[in-house]
Amino acid sequence: MDVSLATLIDNRAETPTVWRMALDWDALARGARAARFVMLALEDNAVQVLPRPFSLSDVWRRADGRVVTELLYKPMGRVTQRMTQLRAGAQVRIGGLAGNGFPQPASERRPVLLAGGIGNAPFALQVRELLAGGRAQEVVLVLAGRSAQDIWIQPSVRESGITIIECTDDGSRGEHGRITEVLQRRLSTLGPIEAFVCGPEPMLHAVQQMALKEQFPCHLSVEERMACGYGVCNACVVESAQPGVPCGQGDYLRACVDGPVFEARSIHA
Ligand SMILES: Cc1cc2nc3c(=O)[nH]c(=O)nc-3n(C[C@H](O)[C@H](O)[C@H](O)COP(=O)(O)OP(=O)(O)OC[C@H]3O[C@@H](n4cnc5c(N)ncnc54)[C@H](O)[C@@H]3O)c2cc1C
Ligand code: FES
Repeated sequence: MDVSLATLIDNRAETPTVWRMALDWDALARGARAARFVMLALEDNAVQVLPRPFSLSDVWRRADGRVVTELLYKPMGRVTQRMTQLRAGAQVRIGGLAGNGFPQPASERRPVLLAGGIGNAPFALQVRELLAGGRAQEVVLVLAGRSAQDIWIQPSVRESGITIIECTDDGSRGEHGRITEVLQRRLSTLGPIEAFVCGPEPMLHAVQQMALKEQFPCHLSVEERMACGYGVCNACVVESAQPGVPCGQGDYLRACVDGPVFEARSIHA
């Protein structure tokens, strides 16, 4: 895995649970694509642990030609808490790009992007890709969270012209209810859809079940724990479900190199 130093341009809390870090690091030159990810390690010795995986959130070119790579993160534990203390000019060590990323949606299906909590991270870049393909009018993005503070997305997405639906478990913002309920209410009016999903494991599982039942293509970006990030430690395996083979008899796939994006039918439900 290619590892390089990146300098922070900005690092701020957008809500109490959503932080945005902008890096002077050229993800475009490394094959940026929504749901591909980097392995981030802290450059100082404050926290000595393995690197952590973070999805590319957005990648764009400044007026001076330099490429800005954005990550969204939720302060959880040692590394992400320490990340909140870094200021512009600090450096982090970035490995990657890693992973496969979301595929292009089929032209005859409406792209529906389903984000749970900090699983909103890959979608600013995916919206940018869909806009480049001229599909803004069709795209529906559902932002789900436990409460209002978990709902955030980059201004570029808000201004893009796509349809954005918000929902929260406690009803403090948007529709009251879970993302699967919000989608189920609209399934008959959306027409043929193709879903792109990132969020916590229970949400991925619920959407996977729905996709299998309703028979729409569905791409799940899984967030397994990772250690190496390049396929050698097997920390990140998910069980495959080969079509026609009963669950439990499939082989194992590594989320870091075979994923993190898997089609709903291809992994154990
Ligand atoms: C492909 C991929 C992409 C990811 N993209 C993002 C992203 O864009 N933004 C983001 O904030 N996070 C993302 N994550 C999760 C992120 O890697 C973890 O939040 C991070 O490793 C936590 O490190 P920490 O040292 O702060 O927490 P730790 O001290 O390691 O753990 C703190 C707490 O978080 C829990 N935890 C740690 N890792 C995970 C995980 N993968 N899933 C669920 N719970 C976990 C632990 O059980 C513990 O309770 C991604 C993970 C993967 C595999
Ligand atoms: S994290 Fe080591 S094999 Fe995937």
